[in-house]
Amino acid sequence: MKKRLILLFAIAMTALVACGSDDASGDGDSDAKELKVVTDAAFAPFEYLEGEEVVGFDADLGKAVLEEAGYTMNFEHVGWENMLLQTEQGEADLAIAGISITDDRKKTYDFSNPYFVSTQMILVPEDSEVTSVEDLKDKTVGVQISTTGDNEASRIFGENSSQIKKYEQVPLAIMAMQSGDVDAVIVDNVVAQEYMKTNPDAGVKGVYDEDSFEVEYYGFMFPKDSKLAGELNEALQEVMDNGTYSEIYKEWFGQEPDLAQLQ
Ligand code: ARG
Repeated sequence: MKKRLILLFAIAMTALVACGSDDASGDGDSDAKELKVVTDAAFAPFEYLEGEEVVGFDADLGKAVLEEAGYTMNFEHVGWENMLLQTEQGEADLAIAGISITDDRKKTYDFSNPYFVSTQMILVPEDSEVTSVEDLKDKTVGVQISTTGDNEASRIFGENSSQIKKYEQVPLAIMAMQSGDVDAVIVDNVVAQEYMKTNPDAGVKGVYDEDSFEVEYYGFMFPKDSKLAGELNEALQEVMDNGTYSEIYKEWFGQEPDLAQLQ
């Protein structure tokens, strides 16, 4: 009886060791290294939660680019500020979250080349008389904290102005506007449009002020001096050149991308 147990134990151990060594030595596709990609999944259509899963344009593009470079993606919703922190500290391999490439952020992070063109937009209740940034001067605005919308609000009202209310997530800022806590929300145009499209009865409208908001470009964001940045940048270029980017773009936006804008 004892012998048999020892034998069983030995077989089990061999199997375990075999498994282990198999994992370590294989470098075929099934063993592709998984990268931890962090995001704030409350930014449809770029990233949002469907059950537990983070889906959206960024999810599909990220997957395609990582795959092109020989990686798999673990796309994790950790929240905006947490995402910034984890990426800065190298706890995540990179962040993909409709993140605008700014000079200020470049001091702390590395970025890929641009993959999307964006600009800020003003969301207001349907009956609002706001038609420009100028009209906001005596109003209050909601923004997602530490975003470019937040930067723009600081530029308009002054840093730390009491007219700016900062929220953890974009949907919270929009809800605040609907309950009358703020008069307007400043947010990325495509996200504003998506909100109006999926909530046609929400009673909000979008206001463009082209003269007041500059063009922004989204990029993948890496910890400073990350070795992955160059590698994934090449893969991004390849995905743009080989038609995969256009396919994903068409799926989410129903039209051909203007790739020339991004070069
Ligand atoms: N593009 C803006 C920025 O960088 C907003 C991005 C917000 N993204 C998000 N997933 N909540 O700052």
